[in-house]
Amino acid sequence: MRRKLVAGNWKMHGSLAENEALLSGVLAGIGEVKVGVAVCVPFPYLAQAQARLAGSKIAWGAQNLSQHAKGAFTGEVSAAMLKDFGCAYVIVGHSERRALFGESDAVVAEKFAAAQAAGLTPILCVGETLEEREGGITEQVVGRQLDAVIAKCGVSALAKAVLAYEPVWAIGTGKTATPEQAQAVHAFIRARVRGLDAGVAKGLIIQYGGSMKPGNASELLSQPDIDGGLIGGAALNAEEFLAICRAG
Ligand code: 13P
Repeated sequence: MRRKLVAGNWKMHGSLAENEALLSGVLAGIGEVKVGVAVCVPFPYLAQAQARLAGSKIAWGAQNLSQHAKGAFTGEVSAAMLKDFGCAYVIVGHSERRALFGESDAVVAEKFAAAQAAGLTPILCVGETLEEREGGITEQVVGRQLDAVIAKCGVSALAKAVLAYEPVWAIGTGKTATPEQAQAVHAFIRARVRGLDAGVAKGLIIQYGGSMKPGNASELLSQPDIDGGLIGGAALNAEEFLAICRAG
């Protein structure tokens, strides 16, 4: 059986003092949590996450990486650097990176490959905009985003990756996909992978992300193809994040 994974995506939030309070709050309540738990923090705080979380049940990771291994890429951070700070995970292809920083499907696939080459587990985000959903092309968009990575890395690469379905219209908006809407896309993703490799499809963790909160988490997480969550806003509050973890 797949073990659920709940990961916090802190985005560009936090400070040394705020992170200390948040991490100690989450550590204090992690005992009763059954699911896998991770936090993806801003680059400058990776050392803090490592120092605070090493030896605990909580893994940590980053929110982005360079597709390049090293070189003259001012301002970029490589997969090996993330590995140096003990990262287990790195988010790849978040919709904010795609929309605000121009990351194409091809660049996302390169970043996915770079993460795996360094031994990191990529959390690959896919999802449609409201316009795309209303235009009836959700599956086409999500399928295209997924296929770009499969074309570059092969379906077997998904055995060492996590997927996150994040409908763009549900991110930070307070509008959650209904459990039925989310389940339908999760099932579509798993079926597409199953068409290529049934074993990989069965083991693939597909998280849901988009305004997941303590109040809606258990209904979402009880869907057969929803294997965890990628949590934005609610991951900045220890009690809310723990409540979502306990719902898994
Ligand atoms: P919110 O939980 O704030 O909607 O963000 C979701 C998200 O983008 C996680 O990556």
